[in-house]
Amino acid sequence: MIIDTHAHYDDEKFDGDRDVLLTGFRERGVELVINAAADLDGCRNTMELINKYDFVYGMQGVHPDDVGALTEEDMTFLRENAKHPKVVAIGEIGLDYYWDKAERDVQKYWFKRQIDLARELKLPVCIHSREAAADTLEVLKEANAQEVGGVMHCYSYSAEMTEEYRKLGFYFGIGGVVTFKNGRKCKESVAKLPLECIVLETDAPYLAPEPFRGKRNESPYIQYVVQMIASIKGVTEEEVMRQTSENARRVYPKLASIG
Ligand code: NI
Repeated sequence: MIIDTHAHYDDEKFDGDRDVLLTGFRERGVELVINAAADLDGCRNTMELINKYDFVYGMQGVHPDDVGALTEEDMTFLRENAKHPKVVAIGEIGLDYYWDKAERDVQKYWFKRQIDLARELKLPVCIHSREAAADTLEVLKEANAQEVGGVMHCYSYSAEMTEEYRKLGFYFGIGGVVTFKNGRKCKESVAKLPLECIVLETDAPYLAPEPFRGKRNESPYIQYVVQMIASIKGVTEEEVMRQTSENARRVYPKLASIG
């Protein structure tokens, strides 16, 4: 069975068939899904999903693209939601210097504030970082993020950076990109990382693996990611599923306590 540690089933691309799709997951080999919030609406919709489906867990957080208008009131809203027993992490939070939708200082401020919130609630974090490897690491260190732990989502940085994030005890989210023909960097990361540091993720509806690249992604497609990781590591697909599920429960302890 598979644990999809990062998906966005609140996305409008699922509006037409969300219920049919999600209720069919278990039969298709998906044990648990963690719905990641990106903005405040996403946070609200994530709470609805976790209350509706027993196998859906959630994160509460605001993505760097959407921190521009955040307020203290919003932080209170996140804090209250995140106390729910099925909210397993604060995420996705971080820095995005590719889109640069908010000023970099503003991104850093709310990134740090949300790490502080995670510490206060004793929750791990799920990190979105794009073209901001060094600054992300700096904020994580300043905020003592090794005390909360978490996952580098959709991981794509260099081997040197990987070592730095590993020193903080972070896990690495691997998804569809590892199956892409131009996914060489991601394949190299998987080759170097111990299986004990990897968790599976879709980022659905985005980043569908081959042979569905470009289409809407969904958690059962993780089997193609499992196949690729198994072939890179020279282990069975069962071993990849078993170890990554164990990792997911280790990095997100609230999963283990309920599941
Ligand atoms: Ni995401």
